[in-house]
Amino acid sequence: MKVTKAVIPAAGLGTRVLPATKAMPKEMLPIVDKPSIQYIVEEAVKSGITDILIITNRGKGIIEDHFDRTPYLESALESSGKTELLEELKAVSDLANIYTIRQKETKGLGHAISRAKSFAAGEPIAVLYGDDVIIGDNPACKQLIDAYDKYGLGVVGVKEVKPEDIHKYSSLKVDKLEDNIYKCTDMIEKPDDAHVLSYFSILGRCVLPPEIFDILENTKPGVGGEIQLTDAMRELAVTKGMTAVDFEGVRYDMGNKLGILKATVEVALKHPEVKDDFRAYLKEIAKTL
Ligand code: UTP
Repeated sequence: MKVTKAVIPAAGLGTRVLPATKAMPKEMLPIVDKPSIQYIVEEAVKSGITDILIITNRGKGIIEDHFDRTPYLESALESSGKTELLEELKAVSDLANIYTIRQKETKGLGHAISRAKSFAAGEPIAVLYGDDVIIGDNPACKQLIDAYDKYGLGVVGVKEVKPEDIHKYSSLKVDKLEDNIYKCTDMIEKPDDAHVLSYFSILGRCVLPPEIFDILENTKPGVGGEIQLTDAMRELAVTKGMTAVDFEGVRYDMGNKLGILKATVEVALKHPEVKDDFRAYLKEIAKTL
């Protein structure tokens, strides 16, 4: 079945970026001139997704507002002749059919995804984590969907992480299938040294078959007392196997301060409006370091 639905979990507490995220969702933190969740929605749309469910919670209403029309702003831009900006603004609200549902308690990523059961309605879903922005010519979500179409198994987007960082992520047992695609037969969330399966970790993207929802209903709280998506996906991996795609593209973790800074600098260096001035500025600054 064609993957046309995506879920963006955005109901985390964002404690690593406090106080910025006290009143503002981390998914709305900008990279140059767009909130990070817009990059993620654009990636989904470029991957063939038409319907997107954003999992939110209290205080995240501005995410919905961002993808809505803004008649007062549009008429102000129209009367001041700023047509290019006007069209750009309208396009944001036409990107996809956007739905939201609240995760009423912050019980973990697996619990957040379980809220999408009726939206999925028996179809596979792409999952794009709300704080992971991936920039590249070939959308990461599309690379995973292509693997889903080819192998008919759930897919995780992976990268190798530094050995000293593996305990912060998941660790996967993988065997190579072709180029950057692997078969995954086991996984563990935040392993200690004795349980590391490899340095491949799931980073921000997956495509899940409809069975995931029944599995999630029976998934017990894991690391940190949270219902972990990795624990549910592990069941898929050990029973049927999953596919792991070492995706092309640069991933920025917008859930931590350094990730936000890297994204800002690298995107600004390519942004048509500011790149030249910004490069000159950075060169000046670098001399003083
Ligand atoms: P994180 O664990 O990175 O998000 O979850 P967090 O809880 O906001 O992070 P910190 O540790 O407090 O800074 C990865 C993704 O899962 C979502 C988050 O919004 C993020 O996109 N998430 C996490 C939920 O939607 N619900 C949850 O209960 C937990």
